[in-house]
Amino acid sequence: METTELNKQVSAWKARLGPDLVILGHHYQRDEVIQFADFRGDSLQLARDAVRTDARYIVFCGVHFMAETAAILAKPGQTVLIPDVEAGCFLADRADLPLVEAAWRDLGRVLDVEREVMPVTYINSAAVLKAFCGQHGGMVCTSANAGKVLARALAERPRVLFFPDQHLGRNTARRMGIPPEEVLLWDPRRPLGGHDPERIRQARLFLWPGWCYVHTRFRPEHVRAWRERDPDVRILVHPECTEEVVALADEVGSTSYIIRRVEESPPGTKWAIGTEFNLVHRLAREHPEQFIFSLSDEPHYCRTMNLITLEKLARVLEGLVNGVLVNPVVVPPEVAEPARRALERMLEI
Ligand code: 13P
Ligand code: SF4
Repeated sequence: METTELNKQVSAWKARLGPDLVILGHHYQRDEVIQFADFRGDSLQLARDAVRTDARYIVFCGVHFMAETAAILAKPGQTVLIPDVEAGCFLADRADLPLVEAAWRDLGRVLDVEREVMPVTYINSAAVLKAFCGQHGGMVCTSANAGKVLARALAERPRVLFFPDQHLGRNTARRMGIPPEEVLLWDPRRPLGGHDPERIRQARLFLWPGWCYVHTRFRPEHVRAWRERDPDVRILVHPECTEEVVALADEVGSTSYIIRRVEESPPGTKWAIGTEFNLVHRLAREHPEQFIFSLSDEPHYCRTMNLITLEKLARVLEGLVNGVLVNPVVVPPEVAEPARRALERMLEI
């Protein structure tokens, strides 16, 4: 079907489903998809939207862990669907339950983990890891609230095991004033994460060695090149970028923060933005009164976010009008229940 035809069809199916349907869209989605989102947001906002909606069907245009989060928070009788089940998250896949459990056991050889270590998972993680946090008194965080969540976690227990994104963890620790010598990178393939017991006892934050391949492509030389080209340009980056890039940037924040900063800035403001290109490109289009560029010369797209296309969204809606559930996202209750506890602790903060 041609795009205009597909647009008409999706609008018609949406209208037919009325209040039974809500479409949630992450800011990194393609324009052809995000135009149909009832709510757009970063991962924190979308988790909140998922809690608030009463729609029977929540179609999640984003990556799998986001749809899973919505399914965990959904009310009885609500169904979450994702247009492409292959839309995973490279960063989320850097940690799995057996390795995290092994790290927990290892830490338990040195510390009284249940009293001395709080597990905190970035929302970019599988439901079983959120459940692990819920089972051990821990919580979830997003890039928008990592500082607040880590502060709460460290107020309750003296140490935190943070997974899977080392960069978000390190950047947040730096902003909180945690000295680098109290931050330990954990190597899950080595006994005791590659550290001796004394070093473990001195640490306050254990970081899992995960990373996002989109955000770690922004390099310090990109920042320096912009500064040389134009001293007035403001460098605005996502906290999944490396510590070196964040240290050189003017501002750092979640996707919603990036949008807010552009929206509240006067005409003529110049930005070089270090995040996914669909968002940077949309901001540039929506704000022609400002100068908005990607921090790097080449555009960095999230491959899996881009797997969600208008055609696949249309297939899900067509299924719903015909009473067929295409790609429902189901989290078994024994995982959903503890995962919800960890998410609710975050939402309370
Ligand atoms: P946000 O929390 O800013 O939405 O980021 C999610 C993400 O996947 C960034 O790569
Ligand atoms: Fe995951 Fe990175 Fe894509 Fe975000 S941009 S969804 S962290 S792979």
